[in-house]
Amino acid sequence: MTSASTLSLRRSAKILVVEDDDAMRDLLVEELSDEGFDVLAAGDGRAGVDLVLTHPVDLVITDLRMPDVDGFDLIRDVKATRQAPHIVMITAFGSIETAIKAVKLGAFDYITKPFEFEELIIVADKALNDRKLHRHIEHLQREVEGKYRFGNIIGESEAMQEVLGLVTRISTSDAFVLITGESGTGKELISRAIHYNSARASQPFVAVNLAAVPSQLIESELFGHKKGAFTDAHSDRDGLFRQANGGTLFLDEIGELALELQAKLLRVLQEQEIRPVGSAKVERVDVRVVAATNKDLEEMMTQGSFREDLYYRLNVIDIRLPPLRNRVDDILPIAEHLLVQHAGKVGSKTPITLSPEAQRMLLSYRWPGNVRELQNTIERGIALCTGGVIEPTDLPQAVHHKRDIDYLAPAVSRHLSMAELERDFILLVLDDEGGNKTRTAQRLGLDRKTLYRKLEEFGKRDKS
Ligand SMILES: Nc1ncnc2c1ncn2[C@@H]1O[C@H](COP(=O)(O)OP(=O)(O)OP(=O)(O)O)[C@@H](O)[C@H]1O
Ligand SMILES: [Mg+2]
Repeated sequence: MTSASTLSLRRSAKILVVEDDDAMRDLLVEELSDEGFDVLAAGDGRAGVDLVLTHPVDLVITDLRMPDVDGFDLIRDVKATRQAPHIVMITAFGSIETAIKAVKLGAFDYITKPFEFEELIIVADKALNDRKLHRHIEHLQREVEGKYRFGNIIGESEAMQEVLGLVTRISTSDAFVLITGESGTGKELISRAIHYNSARASQPFVAVNLAAVPSQLIESELFGHKKGAFTDAHSDRDGLFRQANGGTLFLDEIGELALELQAKLLRVLQEQEIRPVGSAKVERVDVRVVAATNKDLEEMMTQGSFREDLYYRLNVIDIRLPPLRNRVDDILPIAEHLLVQHAGKVGSKTPITLSPEAQRMLLSYRWPGNVRELQNTIERGIALCTGGVIEPTDLPQAVHHKRDIDYLAPAVSRHLSMAELERDFILLVLDDEGGNKTRTAQRLGLDRKTLYRKLEEFGKRDKS
């Protein structure tokens, strides 16, 4: 008796029979269909591979000896497909070497001719069960990885959730990425996340800070050189493109690259070919480039200091990391993450905490150095604090003063709009300056024309 669960597994799975002998193929298809399997058939290896590429096949039962693409070729090709099906090979009696080779190539099992039909059914059921189990485990693994994939990147804010969502969406892509953001916002961290969540994860991730390499050495650093190419070139040397082959090259501070080198880099990115300094030969490379900068490249383009064609080449995927002050929701979670990490390092069970007043200060500070500055602040706090609680006195002076916005609280409770707030503020400063518009404009950081226009809007501009 065949159990209900086995029958339901047979019905939900698709089997492909590859056999060049017409009579045998028809017989196999008929018998398997009678047993409740959903069956496809192909008369040669090539057609078999095509069916696997176009149908959700779970199991391939294939003959070994076939013209053109034989059973071994078929295993290789099928195993290289995404979500490759299981394979059972039918081999001739007595050829145990063939059977072993099939399994080594990735076949799940084999069956020797001549065989009882029952035997084939047992092997097929076993293969489908094994596949189901594997897929279940894979699914669980993916779920777990999904949860922890950004383990060390804290991003509770909407802005960071968006960035991490984008990193996930591009995980199957090979497109170049340009990451922009102020210093310390996590550009390098995100570039690593992109690499380690991509299909290139098992290949090298190579990072270079273009601002830290003397400009006359950058070309050889990136593309390598031959012995004797220049005075200090005592031997051949691989460049970073070569080292990153198959993986990802992180070009940090791309905005620092001189125009002449920008042209050379553009050519390499277009051709995916490098020419080491002093070499006559070009070499093919397969490198995904992720570039980063805290410069405003668009502004640099209008000034002619960054090539437009290179910009568009690099900026296929555009990731903008917001400064920490614009994602206040991330401040305390990052601080807590660092405190828990510290507790782990020193083997303490309870992490150091932040007093409510210290938390308030962290939240209202501007963080010009972004996450890196927050890291330094917390490390300092850990070192200075006593009694396991970081107090305001354990925070740097800078953090104490910035962005004291308590004076705005009354404006909030009076439900003022931006326009009303702006108007009141401008008029107050004008009054404070005794009506002097030049000084008022200076204090407000406006040019005189703008101040005049605004006063006119307020109905305040006199003709003088
Ligand atoms: N979202 C985050 N969660 C946890 N740690 C972060 C986060 N963002 C940045 N960091 C940490 O902050 C520090 C600075 O990050 P990173 O070096 O990636 O910044 P950057 O943008 O490359 O800075 P720079 O422009 O100065 O090179 C690193 O130690 C990094 O691990
Ligand atoms: Mg960096």
